[in-house]
Amino acid sequence: MLKIANLHAGVEGNEILNGIDLEVKAGEVHAIMGPNGSGKSTLASVIAGKEEFEVTEGTIALDGEDLEDTSPEERAHKGIFLSFQYPVEIPGVSVTNFMKTAINESRKARGLEDMPANQMLKLIREKSELLEIDRKFLSRSLNEGFSGGEKKRNEIFQMAMLEPKLAILDETDSGLDIDALRIVANGVNKLKSKENAVIVITHYQRLLEYIVPDFVHVLHDGKIVKSGGKELALELEEKGYDWIKQEVSV
Ligand SMILES: Nc1ncnc2c1ncn2[C@@H]1O[C@H](COP(=O)(O)OP(=O)(O)O)[C@@H](O)[C@H]1O
Ligand SMILES: [Mg+2]
Repeated sequence: MLKIANLHAGVEGNEILNGIDLEVKAGEVHAIMGPNGSGKSTLASVIAGKEEFEVTEGTIALDGEDLEDTSPEERAHKGIFLSFQYPVEIPGVSVTNFMKTAINESRKARGLEDMPANQMLKLIREKSELLEIDRKFLSRSLNEGFSGGEKKRNEIFQMAMLEPKLAILDETDSGLDIDALRIVANGVNKLKSKENAVIVITHYQRLLEYIVPDFVHVLHDGKIVKSGGKELALELEEKGYDWIKQEVSV
C-alpha cells in the first residue's frame, strides 16, 4: 500500500529525514518510535504532503502511484489520514456538521454527489455506536473546551467516518492520559481491517500495550535504525533510547 524508498526531506535546506525506507501493506499496523526530535512528526507530515517540508530525494508511493506533486488535499482524498496534533476550535460548528462537510468535500473531489442525508445519518450512527460515542458529544462545537480524551475521541471519529486506506496517528506530544490512550487504541483496534493500514507514531511504549503493532520501527536522526516485531517496543521500554543511540554510534 505505502512504499517509501530512500526518502530525504527537510526544511529550508536542513535535512531532517536522511534516507527512510518503509513498506506498509494492507492489514498491517506499524509503530514508529524514537526519541524527541528524531523526525517522527516530520515523516508523518511528509507522507501527508505538508508543504513546509521539501523532499530532496527518494519516493513515496501509495498503491504503486508516486505521490510527488500531489497536494495534502489530494492525498487525503486518496485515503491518507493524518491525525491532527493541535486541532482547531470551530465555535458554532458541531462535530457532526464538520464531518458531513469533510465527507462531502472528499466525495466532490472524487466526482461524487453529496452523500444522501439518510445514508449520512446511518453512517454517523454506525460509527458512533462502534466507538461508543454518545449523541451529546456529536452535537458539541468542534474542539471547543474539549478535554484531551475528547479531542482524541473526535479524531478517531473522523478517522472512522472517512474510512482512510492509511491512517497515521501522531501521538507524541499530545499529553496522552490513560483515558486518551484507551480511546485511540480502542478506535484503531476496532477500525483496522484487511483493507486498511495504520501507522502509529509514539514516543512511549505505553500506547503499544493497547495497540499491538505488527512491526515496530525506531527512528533516530531521521533514519530507521532498527525494525522488529512488537517485542522491540518492550525492549526499548526496558533499555531506553540510549540503547539505540549506543548501538548506532558503535
Ligand atoms: N517546521 C520546521 N522547521 C524547522 N525545523 C523543524 C521543523 N519541523 C521539525 N523540525 C526539526 O526537525 C527535527 C525533527 O523534528 P520532529 O519531526 O518534530 O521530531 P519528533 O516528532 O520525532 O519529535 C527537530 O530537530 C526539529 O527541530
Ligand atoms: Mg513529534
